[in-house]
Amino acid sequence: MTGLRVETGAVLAIDGGSAVRAPEREWPGWPVPGPAAESHLAEVLHGGRWAITSPRRGDLFERRFARMFARYVGTRHCVPTDHGSSALVIALESLGLAYGDPVLVPALTWTACATAVLRAGLLPVLADVDPETGCLDVSALRADDDVRAVVAVHWACGMADIPAIEEFASVRGIQVVEDAAQAHGARWLGRPAGSLGRLGCFSMQHSKVLTCGEGGAVVTDDDALLTRLEELRADSRSWRDDARPGELDLRESATVLGANFCLSEFGAALLCAQLPQLDAQNAVRERNYERLRELLVDVPGVRLLTRRPEQDRVSLYEVPVVFDPLPPHRDNSWVAAALTAEVGMRAYPPRAPLQRSPLLRPWTKPALAPLSERFVARHRGRVFPGADRLARHAVLLHHSAFLGPESDMLDLARGIAKVAGHLRKVGRT
Ligand SMILES: Cc1ncc(COP(=O)(O)O)c(C=O)c1O
Repeated sequence: MTGLRVETGAVLAIDGGSAVRAPEREWPGWPVPGPAAESHLAEVLHGGRWAITSPRRGDLFERRFARMFARYVGTRHCVPTDHGSSALVIALESLGLAYGDPVLVPALTWTACATAVLRAGLLPVLADVDPETGCLDVSALRADDDVRAVVAVHWACGMADIPAIEEFASVRGIQVVEDAAQAHGARWLGRPAGSLGRLGCFSMQHSKVLTCGEGGAVVTDDDALLTRLEELRADSRSWRDDARPGELDLRESATVLGANFCLSEFGAALLCAQLPQLDAQNAVRERNYERLRELLVDVPGVRLLTRRPEQDRVSLYEVPVVFDPLPPHRDNSWVAAALTAEVGMRAYPPRAPLQRSPLLRPWTKPALAPLSERFVARHRGRVFPGADRLARHAVLLHHSAFLGPESDMLDLARGIAKVAGHLRKVGRT
């Protein structure tokens, strides 16, 4: 038993009833600056070096963060970038695939996973996700036998089974890019997210658990890929070790065509301050998440995503609360609004799956025309029931809702149970 007291007949806050949580009680804010954030930022501000592409003068925070993050993830190398999207672009470009090669992308993820594939001159091929975990599994790879690579995304707070995907992919010459943009600090059988594939990609955008506003990184153990990744993100330039003060730290090694995807020194300084607090924050979030799971266990019509037993450390990003079934005239946008009114923390539905996402419009870019035509033709009439089911039934809560005391979980659980009780009542009438 949960011990959760649910008042089934209570009027919902969205209908004028009283809210489960007093509106004046605040939720934890986000982002939370690390203790060294101000001093690091001041150091950059007054240090005369705001970018890695400027003449050498002292040490770079960008180099420091690359070392710190590689150590954190347990890989030999880290190449910081300006966004998670550009991390994906250079990771895909570094694989040396041919123009238009098909790349598997989960249908339920942020649009950048597919747009990065297009920007790298490749064809996104959407695949369904497991509705229990929200992630791709090996069966998705079996369905499309011409794919040359896969962007395997750890979604929301679950992890894709990268070892199983790798095992299947490697003997067929399929390359695996692990998208850990939503999973900093998660672990699979003790191994950190991002280190499980040949290349791991991260986003450090504002909403992520490790953030500098806008930023990203690629990590890898592969020495052969390192210089290529560096060139791809710094206009065909890579690091030199022998720069003297006043000289550029980058040399024109130029083995491939790059672009400017460099992380600024301000972003890198902030990330150096944020990383030391990540594990402690993740632990608080994980503890609260498991408490919420206990509280909801006996509430009918509501579930959290299944946690795979191999996932021994969870990193929350957006926590999906799945309301299933939903009665007619109550979609998950309505549920999100009702829950928001009860608990005073924004709840929101997932973005539309990519096969019907208004954001994925490759035909608006002339450079993408041939890929766009193939993309549209390949997906005509295709359906992704797992992705659709989650997109229509889940309501998401940002990870910051899980950073406070355990009593916050009681408020969330009571709010969720109250809305679920209302849905059951409406379903019966
Ligand atoms: C799974 C996933 N991949 C890639 C990205 C892109 O990252 P960014 O917004 O930093 O470009 C995101 C951002 O939300 C994401 O969630």
